Amino acid sequence: MQTRRGCFITLEGLDGAGKSTHVQWLVEQLQQRGLNVLATREPGGTALGEQLRQLVLTQPMNLSTETLLMFAGRCEHIATVIKPALEAGLWVVCDRFTDATYAYQGGGRELGSERIGILEQWVHADLQPDRTWLFDVPLEVARERLARTRELDRFEQEGAAFFERTRTAYHERAQRFPERLRIVDSTQAIASVRHSLEGQIDELVRQYASRGES
Ligand code: TMP
Repeated sequence: MQTRRGCFITLEGLDGAGKSTHVQWLVEQLQQRGLNVLATREPGGTALGEQLRQLVLTQPMNLSTETLLMFAGRCEHIATVIKPALEAGLWVVCDRFTDATYAYQGGGRELGSERIGILEQWVHADLQPDRTWLFDVPLEVARERLARTRELDRFEQEGAAFFERTRTAYHERAQRFPERLRIVDSTQAIASVRHSLEGQIDELVRQYASRGES
């Protein structure tokens, strides 16, 4: 039996791409369209996940350890937060998900995608985002925006080559999943980014409404 399910939205992008500027706005846009929304994030999203976040963002560690911790947190997050919310019909907006592991660990840290694919199959073979918005800016723009922010975490301190590989891996994901993963040109002014997103939000809400009727 197919359980009624809300829509699963994820947001991605390089550090400094402007993603955080739009998270709360996006949640409000969905709420204004009458939807019940749960906003969450990775790494994080549960008490355990937030502790893991603290570790992965601050402690030096082996690449496999880092990747496994991302998926350990994700496993807990899916089981205790994301799936129950979707099953209850909520729309879930998650700030980063598995595309970030493919981009940062797979691309940035050069782990490649094979082992990440195995973990993805283990942890969430039956769950994929319905829509992912990838906030995209050239590297120089991301670096310049980052330079103006707070203290940098372990990832944000990486060099240009790391972020170039991360961005390339994100673009490869977008090419592989063009229906799900939409690139947002985040070099534009905030108002224009939001204007173009509004149309896409309407389209997504319409798709979901018609799915419910069929
Ligand atoms: P945030 O600042 O957008 O919350 O993300 C924290 C950092 O975690 C960001 O630099 C990207 C990194 N990250 C990974 O490296 N792999 C992952 O799977 C996730 C979810 C995040």
